[in-house]
Amino acid sequence: MRKIVKSLFVLTLLVALSLLVACGQATESGGQSDGGSDGNNDSDNESASEDQLTIGLSVADLSLERWQHDRDIFIEKAEELGADEILVQSADGKDEKQLSQIQTMLSQGIDVLVIIANNSDALSPVVNQAKEEDIPVVAYDRLINNAEIDAYVSFDNVRVGEMQAEYITEQVPTGKYFMLGGAPTDNNAQMFREGQMNVVEPLVDNGDIEIIGDQWADGWSAEAALDIIENALTANANDIDAIVATNDSTAGGAIQALSSQNLAGEVAISGQDADLAAVQRIAEGTQSMTVYKPIRDIAVRNAEVAVQLANGDEVEAQGTVNNETMDVPFIKLEPIKVHQDNLMDTVIADGFHSYDEVYKNIPEDERPENPE
Ligand code: GAL
Repeated sequence: MRKIVKSLFVLTLLVALSLLVACGQATESGGQSDGGSDGNNDSDNESASEDQLTIGLSVADLSLERWQHDRDIFIEKAEELGADEILVQSADGKDEKQLSQIQTMLSQGIDVLVIIANNSDALSPVVNQAKEEDIPVVAYDRLINNAEIDAYVSFDNVRVGEMQAEYITEQVPTGKYFMLGGAPTDNNAQMFREGQMNVVEPLVDNGDIEIIGDQWADGWSAEAALDIIENALTANANDIDAIVATNDSTAGGAIQALSSQNLAGEVAISGQDADLAAVQRIAEGTQSMTVYKPIRDIAVRNAEVAVQLANGDEVEAQGTVNNETMDVPFIKLEPIKVHQDNLMDTVIADGFHSYDEVYKNIPEDERPENPE
């Protein structure tokens, strides 16, 4: 009996909350979704009808270049697979915003919820709510901890970290290293670091490498990385040989700091995502490498898994990953190392960036031959 009363109470609370959120949104956006800076929304605010397939895609932060590609490809694929509506929202890097946007989506009658988590530890309230409403939940690229989720679709994140450290330690086998981590709230950032340390730690133990600093950039922000590396250069009288940077936006900030000391190109530095600016820096020689995680692969795979789950079909996983509540089915994709010598065979061959964009800042006679 007590349980029923409690459930009724929770139910009333949830209904009240959804109404509140729905009203809030209607007034705030007047029928158009607030998709964040670069948000996109394929729909009105009306609740989806019974026989429609509606997907909610909650993106942590659409101001970062890579997530805009993810959104576009996801929408294209989901529509091709029969989705009628895709509700897209950007939380602009804010935990609270992501929670309330997801609550709104749940009140709009979605059939499956796909989340690119801003904070891997902050989402259990809405994921639990989705579970109670029998709406399957997919963790897109970033794991969601402490909640029951149906699938995690991502690259092999430990392998990404290993690739970064492998490349940098091949270039700079001995010397002073700075470890520049990603957003501490993103579970991936921990997995990347685990991979980096698999490679770096033995070299620290045998005395080849000295780690002179280890800091993490909030929100994966370039500005945070710029500050961190500026301070590190000052504290070490510019004596840094290599930076293991965890993605391209943070590498960009770090390279800006190096550049103001005339050190860009002198200090080996990694990245991740094959952002256009990073790939241009690789062509120019100020960034050593990036890890390309074909966004088409992850976006397409997430769209497929979302539609399968919405239709009640089984999804095939390559393994599991524990999120402190359960072993989550892990649909794992392979990352690719990108450096100056294979730009043509990777990001350009894939059409992810064009030859002209990549070599824009390189004099024509110094560019490799254009295959076109
Ligand atoms: C990570 C993601 C990286 C990078 C970063 C910044 O979770 O795996 O590829 O994009 O976020 O957004």
